[in-house]
Amino acid sequence: MSKYGENDKQGQYWNEAPGQSWVINDASMNERLENISDILFEGLDVNGYNNGLDIGCGAGSTTRRLATIMGNQARVTGLDISEKLLTLARSHPESLGKNFLQADAQSYNFQPEGFDLTISRFGVMFFENPLKAFKNIKSAIQKGREMRFVCWAPLGANDFFLSPLKTVVDITGVSFAEPGNEPGPLAFSDRNYLSSILKAAEFSSINIDAVETSICTKDSVEKNAALLMEIGMGFRAIKEAAPTHEVLDKIREAFVIDGNKRLQNGLISYDATIYRVSALA
Ligand SMILES: C[S@@+](CC[C@H](N)C(=O)[O-])C[C@H]1O[C@@H](n2cnc3c(N)ncnc32)[C@H](O)[C@@H]1O
Repeated sequence: MSKYGENDKQGQYWNEAPGQSWVINDASMNERLENISDILFEGLDVNGYNNGLDIGCGAGSTTRRLATIMGNQARVTGLDISEKLLTLARSHPESLGKNFLQADAQSYNFQPEGFDLTISRFGVMFFENPLKAFKNIKSAIQKGREMRFVCWAPLGANDFFLSPLKTVVDITGVSFAEPGNEPGPLAFSDRNYLSSILKAAEFSSINIDAVETSICTKDSVEKNAALLMEIGMGFRAIKEAAPTHEVLDKIREAFVIDGNKRLQNGLISYDATIYRVSALA
């Protein structure tokens, strides 16, 4: 098996340029995803829980937050396929004492029922075989204990994705079909599909709540435009279109103009809708 387990394509993706963009923009993304982290952790009962797991933990912001909530006695592990992001996670001063593990969540040989609480912020939508991945994740959680994660609702309800995407499509003419269930940020945006996967993986008490929120930043419109060139659906469409430098400049300019329209009281904001998913192993 390769070092990316059964997810070679995604392993390469998150260990090459796109993964590097997440490394460079980690602080910026954590700022933008602050409301969503709050939704993920809201009401999370950690009483009596000692062994937490953060799947697709990236650079570990939510792993550290989980560890803080669970307290000193708890052991917390962040698991991710990207060595690049884990290197950044390990280098954070507050990561001391946390365990960061490079592995493919779909095929990693977990200690059976080794964890009593599992979370993820946007880290579970990238599996070649989601059913196998969730069965594997379930095997790692003690029976009756919670797995909680957030994932994106459909594209139309997520302006942070849709708006830059439309801009790139308008300027380049690239055709960009709405993604289906293939691995990617929107893989679980069809809640019936998501529910069927979790049921088939034999999770119980499955709850999928659509939560409307916003993605906000205090970044300048120029810095925000630069980030949109590197992360999200606009970036994915740019990769597809492979535009010239002149066209890239046009796209950046359009992102700046749009950012200025959104700017209010020093904040650039995008509407967002996510699913907060909770299920018991
Ligand atoms: C959108 S990023 C989210 C990162 C982090 N949870 C956050 O919110 O900042 C998706 C993460 O999932 C990880 N990932 C993708 N496929 C994976 C897999 N098969 N096993 C483990 N991690 C995976 C990526 O490396 C990446 O860090």
